[in-house]
Amino acid sequence: MSDRRPKVWVSQPLFDDIVGRLDEYFEVDANREVVDHTPDRIAAALRDADGALITLNEPIGAAEVADASRLRVLSTVAVGYNNLDLPAVSRAGILVTNTPDVLTETTADLGFTLMMAAARRITEAEQWLRAGNWQGWSFSTLLGADIHGSTLGILGMGRIGQGIARRAGGFGMRVLYHNRSRLPEAVEREYRAEYVGFDELLAQSDHLLLVLPYSAQSHHIIDAAALAKMKPNATLSNVARGGLIDENALADALAGGRLAAAGLDVFEGEPAINPRLLALHNVVLTPHIGSGSLATRRAMVSLAVDNLIAALGFGPDAGRPPTPVNADALQR
Ligand code: GLV
Repeated sequence: MSDRRPKVWVSQPLFDDIVGRLDEYFEVDANREVVDHTPDRIAAALRDADGALITLNEPIGAAEVADASRLRVLSTVAVGYNNLDLPAVSRAGILVTNTPDVLTETTADLGFTLMMAAARRITEAEQWLRAGNWQGWSFSTLLGADIHGSTLGILGMGRIGQGIARRAGGFGMRVLYHNRSRLPEAVEREYRAEYVGFDELLAQSDHLLLVLPYSAQSHHIIDAAALAKMKPNATLSNVARGGLIDENALADALAGGRLAAAGLDVFEGEPAINPRLLALHNVVLTPHIGSGSLATRRAMVSLAVDNLIAALGFGPDAGRPPTPVNADALQR
């Protein structure tokens, strides 16, 4: 057996004090700048790596791992992993780990924030005020929609969806949800959440929140036809992935008064933003900061580091990474 220390690639600057834990076990090749790596650069970095700490900015599929014969684990610092071709990397016997749970509450906070900001026209109001438009208090200035007592629709009732449902209880909202599979009755009771069909969710929600994973099946799940089923005074917010929404159809609905407002943290071509959305006042835009509190981002990096160390057979959890995505790849 070689006494070569395993080598790991760290794709982006994270938190040095946490990533520094890797030095105890590995030779670490840490990229020091925030960059969009080219596919060639990713392939080159993975070629002689045993593991990698990556982010949602690195798309990795069959081509990127073709020459990575030593690679055993991709530890992504995110809950979503649609940037990875999971079947392809699984076939190559590479374990993927992610960072669920630690970001649930922070992301639910942002979902709720976007919904409230869209409903109460917060960014529009601030822009209007800063532009010097306010001539004095008036009864009819920038009237919005209520959160309390309204009907919340949650599309995707996983951990983050349930976090949003918990918050909705405090605002006296009626909670509807739609999900691939219905939750156990006890959980529905706990959140006072009612399971409804997709069309009913669209038709009944005053505020619709998207928190489902992005995949070929959920691509543009909110398209022109779906938007046409929503109430014209409803809001739509998205803290999952941009590709869930047909952004041109959304811009049409927002511009045409067929939807009151939207709150978007994620975009199909991010960091590029559809210029039609940028031109609209009734959409709140944030730069993919759903899990972006300092404490949560640190917890995510820490969990990803634990996953990497354990997956490569070191540390207290050697061989048992805490949050694997494709655990069966370990058997290959
Ligand atoms: C962020 O978008 C994540 O998936 O963690």
